[in-house]
Amino acid sequence: MSESSHPENFIPAMSAIAREAGALLMQYFHQGLKIEYKGDADLVTAADRASEALIRERVSKQFPSHDVMGEEQGLKDRGSEYRWYVDPLDGTTNFAHGYPVFAVSMALEHRSGDTETRIAGVVYDPTRDELFTAEKGRGAHLNGKLIHVSKMAQLKECLVATGFPSHKRHKNPNIFFYHQITLKTHGVRRAGSAALDLCNVACGRFDGFWEFNLNPWDTAAGVLLVEEAGGRVTRFDGSPFELNSRETLASNGLVHDALLHEFEEIFAGRGLEALPDPRVYQR
Ligand code: IPD
Ligand code: CA
Ligand code: CA
Repeated sequence: MSESSHPENFIPAMSAIAREAGALLMQYFHQGLKIEYKGDADLVTAADRASEALIRERVSKQFPSHDVMGEEQGLKDRGSEYRWYVDPLDGTTNFAHGYPVFAVSMALEHRSGDTETRIAGVVYDPTRDELFTAEKGRGAHLNGKLIHVSKMAQLKECLVATGFPSHKRHKNPNIFFYHQITLKTHGVRRAGSAALDLCNVACGRFDGFWEFNLNPWDTAAGVLLVEEAGGRVTRFDGSPFELNSRETLASNGLVHDALLHEFEEIFAGRGLEALPDPRVYQR
């Protein structure tokens, strides 16, 4: 079967499940809830768990043979040819603080022999009622309208985005990249939902996005959206992106080489702008 000719259209079912999970998240969001910790500064709420339980229930009813890998419950691998990657609430820290930037992210992968193809992806932002959908070989849509990455070709005119993992922040080098890329662009946004960051590249609001150490459930849907919207996604050295890459660099394609060049320079420690000294500022 060719990658682009998957006969079944899973998007309507995935969209309905994502909308239902999003509505559930909004109920929790309005009522306020207790924060728990999975680790130091790694938050989880009852809403994360309830959303994943709902999604799993709907998938098992409609697609009983499919496997599901979800952030909260992991994967019970039954060797199915279909695997869902589910982030039931991407942006938990925002959610728990009442900051309305979060989403439900789901992707479906088809597995045949050694070949794994992500065939469909859905990201639903219930705060804006924005549903992003993509099907392999059939383009990307926002609320049913075809979307495309931006046409920005100059890095210095770009608006880009990044994120920081909620745990192990002290070991993450991204603060250096944040600093350097901020000085080379119109700015770097750090909104707190990697799935939405990728969707915002797909629809041209952002020209690029990068993050260290994302997990498959963060990226599986958003990466397909960027690719289907005409963009490019690689590792930080330009090699092909894979779900377990731990490096995600997405762009409109036009500024990808420029971003790769900046990454090479930063990793090599070349041409770095020195961090401003707060003591000098104070004087
Ligand atoms: C997090 C968000 C955030 C990113 C973190 C992720 P979660 O997902 O996507 O933007 O910076 O790396 O862990 O924990 O809210 O599902
Ligand atoms: Ca996530
Ligand atoms: Ca999550």
